[in-house]
Amino acid sequence: MRVVSGIQPTGNLHLGNYLGAIRNWVAMQDRMASEGGECLFFLADLHAISMPHDPAELTANTREMAAALIACGIDSDKSILFNQTQVPAHAQLQWLLNGTARMGWLNRMTQWKDKAGKNREGASIALFTYPVLQAADVLLYQATHVPVGDDQKQHLELARDIAQKFNSDFGKGEDIFTLPEPIIPAGAARIMSLRNGAAKMSKSDPSDMSRINLTDDADTIMVKIRKAKTDAEPLPGDKDGLVGRPEAENLVGIFAALAGSDVNAVLAQFGGQGFGAFKPALGELLVAKLAPINERFNALRNDTAAIDAALRKGAERATALATPTLDAAYAALGLLR
Ligand code: TYM
Repeated sequence: MRVVSGIQPTGNLHLGNYLGAIRNWVAMQDRMASEGGECLFFLADLHAISMPHDPAELTANTREMAAALIACGIDSDKSILFNQTQVPAHAQLQWLLNGTARMGWLNRMTQWKDKAGKNREGASIALFTYPVLQAADVLLYQATHVPVGDDQKQHLELARDIAQKFNSDFGKGEDIFTLPEPIIPAGAARIMSLRNGAAKMSKSDPSDMSRINLTDDADTIMVKIRKAKTDAEPLPGDKDGLVGRPEAENLVGIFAALAGSDVNAVLAQFGGQGFGAFKPALGELLVAKLAPINERFNALRNDTAAIDAALRKGAERATALATPTLDAAYAALGLLR
C-alpha cells in the first residue's frame, strides 16, 4: 500500500481538516508501520498560489502547518513529510498530465465553480488546472489510498479518469499510473461551520467563530461552542430526529467523532436535554482532545531549523520515490531527454 495526501498551508489547521483527514493520516501511518507500506503527506504550497496570497505569509504558514501536522501525530521518521515545492516532479508531472486532462472535466469541478464564482474570466489559470496538479500529486507516487474529507472526492475521481486515459492512450498495454482509492471517514466526512450548518467548516470563512482551530486555547473553544448556532429544540433520542436540523446534527457529529462513538450513542446520552447541557460537554471534550496537540504545536512552532530539516529530508525521500514514475511518463509521451 502507498498512502498519499496533502493539505494547503493557507492558515490554521481546523477541526474539519483534523476529523475529516489528518486523524486518518495518523491512523494510516500507524497501520503502515505494522503492515508495511509507505505514507507520504505534504503541504500543497503550489496549490496555495491559485488564489491571491501574501508571499511572506505562505512561507510562514507552510512551516506552521508542518509543525501542526507533527503535533497531530505525523512522525517524519515513519512518514514522508514534505512540501510540494521541494519536489519539482509534482509540477513537471502536472504539465505532462495537462495534455490528457480535458477542459470539460475541469469545468465540472464544483470547487472550481465555487471558488471562481461569477468572475470566471478573472480567476487564475492555476485555479482551473488545480485538480490536474492534485492528480499529479498522487499519481506520481503510484498512490493506492488517499485519505481525504468528502469535499475532495470529486478531485480524486478526476485523478482516476486522468490516470485511466493516460494509461490507455500511452501505456502500450502497461499501466503507467495506479488508480488511487479515496479513504473518507464514515462519521466525519464533512464538518460544517459553527455559524451555518449548510457551509463546510473552512479556513477561507472570514469569521473565525465559524471554526475551531487546532491552535485555539481552552477559553476560545468554550466561547466558540457556546456561541455556535443551534435551534431551540432539545436534542432528539436518535439520529432520525436530526433530519432538518443541520446545526444540531453537526455538533452531535463532532461529539461522536471526538469521543470515538456514534451519533445514536451520543443521543442516547443527551436526548431530551437542551443545548445548555450539551454544549459545555462538547466544549470540554474538545478542550481535552485538543490540549495535547496544542501543547506540542506551541513547543515546536518556533523551531524553524528543525521544521526545515524535516521537510528537506522528506523531500529527498519523496523525490527518490517519484523519479521512476516521472521518467516513465516522459518516455511514454515520446519526450526526448
Ligand atoms: P484542504 O487543504 O482544503 O483540506 C485538507 C484536508 O481536510 C479535509 N477537509 C475537511 N474534511 C471534513 N470537513 C471539513 N469541513 C473539511 N475541510 C477540509 C479535506 O477534504 C482535505 O482532505 N486540494 C486539497 C489538498 C491536496 C490534496 C492533494 C489532497 C492537494 N493535493 C492530493 C489529497 C491528495 C485541499 O485543498 O485540501
